[in-house]
Amino acid sequence: LTPHSPHRRLGVWLIGARGSISTCVAYGLAGLREGLLEPVGIATEYEPLSRLSLASLDDIALGGHDVCMRDLSLSAAELVKHGILSSDLVAASAPHIAAFETRIRAGALDEPDVGVADLDPRSARLGGAPPREQIARIAQDIDEFRRELDLRRVVVVNVASTEAFRHELSEWSDLDAFERALDTGRSQPASMLYAYAALTSGCPYVNFTPNRGSSPAALRELARQKKLPHCGSDGKTGETLVKTVLAPLFASRALRVLAWQGYNMLGNRDGEVLADVSHRETKVKNKNEALRSILNDERLHTHVGIDFVPSLQDWKTAWDFIHFEGFLGAKMSLQFTWSGSDSCLAAPLVIDLARLADFAAENGEAGEMLHTASYFKAPIGGGSHDFHAQFDALVAYAERHLAPGRSRGASRERGSTPRA
Ligand SMILES: NC(=O)c1ccc[n+]([C@@H]2O[C@H](COP(=O)([O-])OP(=O)(O)OC[C@H]3O[C@@H](n4cnc5c(N)ncnc54)[C@H](O)[C@@H]3O)[C@@H](O)[C@H]2O)c1
Repeated sequence: LTPHSPHRRLGVWLIGARGSISTCVAYGLAGLREGLLEPVGIATEYEPLSRLSLASLDDIALGGHDVCMRDLSLSAAELVKHGILSSDLVAASAPHIAAFETRIRAGALDEPDVGVADLDPRSARLGGAPPREQIARIAQDIDEFRRELDLRRVVVVNVASTEAFRHELSEWSDLDAFERALDTGRSQPASMLYAYAALTSGCPYVNFTPNRGSSPAALRELARQKKLPHCGSDGKTGETLVKTVLAPLFASRALRVLAWQGYNMLGNRDGEVLADVSHRETKVKNKNEALRSILNDERLHTHVGIDFVPSLQDWKTAWDFIHFEGFLGAKMSLQFTWSGSDSCLAAPLVIDLARLADFAAENGEAGEMLHTASYFKAPIGGGSHDFHAQFDALVAYAERHLAPGRSRGASRERGSTPRA
């Protein structure tokens, strides 16, 4: 149990509530509650993070926005077909999922996104409304969720599709200018309107997508003004995770990386969205930045290709080729292949981040949650991209906040292998 208001639950509001990640979050939490799953991949369930006073996994209520009308059971059926969810889990989770389904509201479509499958006409209308009207509607839905379930806090997490790339607007650098732009009705990315609505409704905010969200200076200023924690952006779940573990090896051994080429194939809806060049641009920029920064080489020859390969479904495959030079000019190479279920890798991180954002808010922490950098490809607030350094920072944060003598029965030793 959490020491704070143990009888009131934590609300997690998922933007992109009908998507694959949200579906895995919802079925994962339901499966844990039903005793069907072990919390594999949820780092906050293991030492030392598990010793923080975090919201219990049983005390999380889900709600959210989406712009499509696909039933959660249909999203789940897709994941059963892809070999990700088991039919037993789906059957046992039905009551939890039905409750979540009643708490999904029509969100705001990002203006350039006209061709979403099963598009909810209410979302198309809302996306075309003036930004202030969109924000008011989003905030009202979140407030209703909090009120109806008597939640002690709502954390808003963006897991919506990658938006089309937009060049930076001048009003993004300053909150007053952004407020004025909202007043004049100038179109803004939906992710920024969601972030604005979350923060002005008193909710900590997590951006798991490469979308702008709360990253621009104007929104960061808003978070500080509202004394709320926020973090993002773009979850580090697969190829980039491995890259940021491996790249420090080359830097530490003073080996010269000549080229780092990556090629990703993915077959889920995210891949379908990224098949569009304007959406792909939003994603690829995060993937190159991490490498250049760790290797301290702005001109590093690096390229990430992303292709949509429908038959792979949720199983993303990445192949990386690293060409490097050692002493006496010897040229060598390292190659790795990564095949992972994108949504299974992402869902536990979303759960960790929601709990950590809640914890930070409970502690009165405001602004960028720098200690969560290990979860992101493009951490808000910058800092090292080296996974080891980032994870050490998270452990150091946990150690600073550990309740003395606190022992949660469910704590697990890091490295102890949970049973299947
Ligand atoms: N899976 C991973 O490993 C991973 C890693 C990093 C980032 N991400 C990002 O997470 C996001 C979600 O991934 P996914 O695999 O669940 O995708 P998905 O396509 O299965 O789900 C996205 C959902 O967002 C909805 N949506 C689109 N625009 C919206 C809007 N304006 N408001 C509300 N909902 C909207 C879609 O209808 C869809 O249901 C993507 O942006 C992806 O790039 C995923």
